[in-house]
Amino acid sequence: MRMRTDQGEAQVPGTHEAPGVRVDVYVKPGDAQRALRAEALQGLCHAPKELSPKWLYDERGSQLFDDITRLPEYYPTRREREILHAHADDIARLSGADTLVELGSGTSEKTRLILDAMDAAGQLKRFVPFDVSEAFLRKAAEGLAREYPGIAVHAVVGDFEQHLGRLPGGGRRLIAFLGGTIGNLKPAQRALFLRELSSGLRPGDGLLLGTDLIKDRERLFAAYNDSAGVTADFNRNVLRVLNRELNADFDPEAFEHLAPFDEHNAWIEMRLISRKAQSVWIGDLEKRVDFAAGECLRTEVSCKFCREQVQEELRDAGLDLAAWWTDADGDFALSLAMKR
Ligand code: SAH
Ligand code: AVI
Repeated sequence: MRMRTDQGEAQVPGTHEAPGVRVDVYVKPGDAQRALRAEALQGLCHAPKELSPKWLYDERGSQLFDDITRLPEYYPTRREREILHAHADDIARLSGADTLVELGSGTSEKTRLILDAMDAAGQLKRFVPFDVSEAFLRKAAEGLAREYPGIAVHAVVGDFEQHLGRLPGGGRRLIAFLGGTIGNLKPAQRALFLRELSSGLRPGDGLLLGTDLIKDRERLFAAYNDSAGVTADFNRNVLRVLNRELNADFDPEAFEHLAPFDEHNAWIEMRLISRKAQSVWIGDLEKRVDFAAGECLRTEVSCKFCREQVQEELRDAGLDLAAWWTDADGDFALSLAMKR
């Protein structure tokens, strides 16, 4: 996300890139800030309080998520990497793609396994990383352009709930949506997202989807309530974003992190819980927001899945499951689905 004070002026699509990289920016200056203001008005001024998880990912939040991926308790990244190690060649072959598009790409660290497999098969022409976090995306895209000098790297700064229609077309495309990030969308948002994504694909294009699976509750809880407190810091980061972008005066330490598993919805729910009765001033809204002691602000859900549910949601969007792979312990799944 490109916002006010830490990032200067946004760029016109296609300008100021490093050699070998094209960057299109669809989250324009002021857009993210206006959207945050509208969301804060809606999400903080009414009960129950809630914000979208995308606001967690300024540069510091993106770095904190990267730190989370190395925590002993946070298994999804390691498990997904294990599956990619075992099946990247199958993914390249079955998809037949020459273009890899990655939504919510972050560092694209695991994605290199797919790029290498496509490259080894002689089919890789283009990589399109797509993320809302601009500074992180630019850095990742520049690194990838250096590592894969023979291909076009075309980065897109956008919101995958708004700008899927801006994905560059052409070639045979494989859309990768890794890490379980689809689980950060609630069921209705997810259905819309999958339909929108599918409607932009051509028969033969594919989707490679990472989903975290329902498992032992203690392991789920530990993954989102780590002993080093990195996830807590990541969660509180949204308060630092609100302070900086909307001139708010949250004291992040006045909120406790808790991420329990909601059995009814089959999701982990990240909460910030007010440690006391307190009022926060949101300067740009000219509003005071009151928190009762123990009141929750929900900052993220992270849905957990089983195979039947993933297959059904894909099918409803016009995508047929072609392969389903899990790690040896059945913790995480990668699905390859093809546009009907
Ligand atoms: N794919 C990586 C990173 C996952 S973290 C992995 O598997 O490790 C989630 C990523 O999605 C972050 O980089 C974040 O900036 C991005 N993101 C979150 N919400 C987004 C949105 N609405 N549109 C685009 N990117 C988004
Ligand atoms: C990016 N996403 C898949 C992570 C998840 O597991 O839902 C974000 C995260 N939240 C807390 N820890 C990690």
